[in-house]
Amino acid sequence: MTPEILVLPDAASLAAVAARHCAEIASAAVAARGSFHVALAGGETPRRAYVEIASRTDIDWNRCEIYWGDERRVPPNDAASNYGTARQALLDHVAVPDDRVHRMRADAEDIESAAREYAALLAARLGSPPGFDLVLLGLGDDGHTASLFPHAPALAETRRFVVAAAAPRFGPRLTLTLPAINAAREVIFLVSGGAKSAALRCALAAEGAVAETPARGVRPRSGRLRWIVDSDAFDGGTATMP
Ligand code: 6PG
Repeated sequence: MTPEILVLPDAASLAAVAARHCAEIASAAVAARGSFHVALAGGETPRRAYVEIASRTDIDWNRCEIYWGDERRVPPNDAASNYGTARQALLDHVAVPDDRVHRMRADAEDIESAAREYAALLAARLGSPPGFDLVLLGLGDDGHTASLFPHAPALAETRRFVVAAAAPRFGPRLTLTLPAINAAREVIFLVSGGAKSAALRCALAAEGAVAETPARGVRPRSGRLRWIVDSDAFDGGTATMP
């Protein structure tokens, strides 16, 4: 499937457009199935989108269920926590019922057991493979996404949907695997800044190795894939508006 690429002039407009797309997907999911199941990403680019999402008035938060695509091995109140980041930017400002916010317990003593528990939660609520309505993803400047890093064994996972994964920082982490991400109805990458332009080029190129650029492994089986990027990331700031 050919991915859709939206190029915005700057990070602020990227966040606003991303929020609009998320709201549209949420409304369509609630209208079609009565609920909206979304996996959030960590990182600053997703965080800015969460701030914009929090200010929207067209999302029925009572019908939303919140998951994470990955989490670092830190407590939930740590500044590096993906859960803590989303709580501060979004969840503390909207009325999602507490029992519909599903934190990944990457800080658990037994992280392998925590991976199995989260996978069981996904199976119970979303089926197998998990049928997320939306998975939000960022892109690292090394081409990683979620906590799927270059050359990681987790990239070859074909059976499990949540695994513990080594990471350069805050590891080991919990992450969705590619089979879990690729089962989603909608996947949106959020990419901002010139530091990401090389990784974005590799991710979008016709040829390339997933081991080198894990984001290349995101190919939804039947879902829709969108890239919402700013012009600095797309080509160093020379892109013209669509
Ligand atoms: C993480 C994130 C990671 C992030 C990208 C982009 O836990 O680190 O899930 O995949 O989304 O690194 O982050 P920035 O937008 O901050 O560059």
